[in-house]
Amino acid sequence: MSKKIYLYGNWKMNNTYSETEKFFTEFPAAYDAVKADDLEVGIFAPFTSLWPLSQGAKKCGIVFGAQNVYYEPKGAFTGEISIPMLKEYDVTHIILGHSERRHIFLESDEVIAKKTKAVLDAGMIPVLCYGELLEEREAGNTFTVMERQLKSALAGLTPAETAKIIYAYEPVWAIGTGKTATPDQAEEVCKWSRELIGQKNAVILYGGSVKGSNAKELLSMPDIDGALVGGASLKPASFLEIYTAYKG
Ligand code: PGA
Repeated sequence: MSKKIYLYGNWKMNNTYSETEKFFTEFPAAYDAVKADDLEVGIFAPFTSLWPLSQGAKKCGIVFGAQNVYYEPKGAFTGEISIPMLKEYDVTHIILGHSERRHIFLESDEVIAKKTKAVLDAGMIPVLCYGELLEEREAGNTFTVMERQLKSALAGLTPAETAKIIYAYEPVWAIGTGKTATPDQAEEVCKWSRELIGQKNAVILYGGSVKGSNAKELLSMPDIDGALVGGASLKPASFLEIYTAYKG
């Protein structure tokens, strides 16, 4: 069998409760037409859309999750959402360390490490994002930055734990900009990450303006196991086209 492809959609702050219900009036038929043993689809919605997402996702048999969580189980943390709260929605996967969390909401490596550990301790799967800014790449610091991000998130974790994480390399300059990393640039980092993580079979996704037109060349690279997709994941057709373009 060909390699398994992970197609994960990060809706970011898009799709309200009712828009999520609408998405799932169209998604099941579109998904039925493409679903395959070598494809794992996941969708990550805003907290307020998790209920209709969970209902729709369970019917289709896809993975679903949240885009953030706080590491304390409860208490005086105004505005935060805890792991037990997400568990009641049967959430299994949580995106952590997305560049928008790091750069707009100023989440530190330390906070992301605590979240990663808490999610693993709860038996859930972190989708851990990392990646460099344009100025960091241009200054030749791509690998230094990512080494810091990855090493701090993985410090103190056992090999069994680092094997459970799904990794997502997302160069910040390629997110929502229409600029994609070239397949060679993305492959170079994913291959390097696999060695740093120390897990030959780690699942490593690429994210940053992935769409039908660039899916085949990116997903065909040996160290890229799938895509974390923002903009193109908001509509069933543009989302699933990423897999069909890869296969086609
Ligand atoms: P994009 O976002 O596909 O819209 O570039 C990817 C991401 O941030 O996960």
